[in-house]
Amino acid sequence: MQLKWSDVTPKPLWLNRRQLIAGAATLLASPALARIEAAPSKYSSTEEPNSLEDISTYNNFYEFGTGKEDPAAYAGKLTVDPWSVVIDGMVDKPGSYDLADLVKDQPLEERIYRFRCVEAWAMVVPWIGFELAGLLNRVGVQPGARFVAFETLLRPEEMPGQSSPFIEWPYREGLRLDEAMHPLTILATGLYGEAMPKQNGAPIRLVVPWKYGFKSIKSIVRISLVDKMPQTTWNMLQPNEYGFYSNVNPHVDHPRWSQASERRIGAGLFGGRQDTLMFNGYEAEVASMYAGQDLAKDY
Ligand code: MTE
Repeated sequence: MQLKWSDVTPKPLWLNRRQLIAGAATLLASPALARIEAAPSKYSSTEEPNSLEDISTYNNFYEFGTGKEDPAAYAGKLTVDPWSVVIDGMVDKPGSYDLADLVKDQPLEERIYRFRCVEAWAMVVPWIGFELAGLLNRVGVQPGARFVAFETLLRPEEMPGQSSPFIEWPYREGLRLDEAMHPLTILATGLYGEAMPKQNGAPIRLVVPWKYGFKSIKSIVRISLVDKMPQTTWNMLQPNEYGFYSNVNPHVDHPRWSQASERRIGAGLFGGRQDTLMFNGYEAEVASMYAGQDLAKDY
């Protein structure tokens, strides 16, 4: 069995020790060891996070293949520095922003979130990130904007899965503006106190914890403020199975399987099944955004 330091250390100490280690790593001056300092968040789940091993070896990132091990095996080739993100559409300050410029001034937090994949498995991940709202406020959202569209990098030389035409690349996702501005919605640049592993969507990805995992688009290069509901990859592929909203909902099954329960990755063959919670457990925070909507129709 592999013991993690979080297994043997009470949580508050664990965070302090992590900050100490952050200092030590800076002294060692190896960029690979650079740790990110981030404040704890009131939005964090109190559940024990999955191991770094679980989080970084069981992935969905179809740009590197459809197998769960493919991203860890093939994402190494991806160049994540330099990286820039185009912000365009209905914003006051459109442009191509270098990643360092994009994240500067955005307060980094550690957000321990439950993460529920549409395939009915779940993890708990200690992300490092900042609220998307902070960035949107900085670039200035114009009055007519109602949705935010996101796109992943298109670079088939480094992303072997993009030579398969079953997805119309680039991978794309979207949120309604109120969902994008919600404080739970973050852009994550790391996890477990370090820069984002490539297989998890380096150098910057979205995390929307009350929606199925596929909404959490990886390796983002474009964020567009638009007035119409944008196209999204899974909805384009199978519109009867994947809608625009994709809120975690145990009462609305996927046409081919139940969404009532989930398998917690890393919990072992017999211990792992638990009931899925409405909005993945974030109902108190997000349900009001959907008041008056029929969530069986707006799935
Ligand atoms: N983003 C891109 N660009 N390509 C993908 O294939 N897969 C999605 C989402 N973001 C995907 C993506 C799906 S289906 C899931 S469940 C999560 O990423 C998985 O995130 P993780 O590998 O960090 O757990």
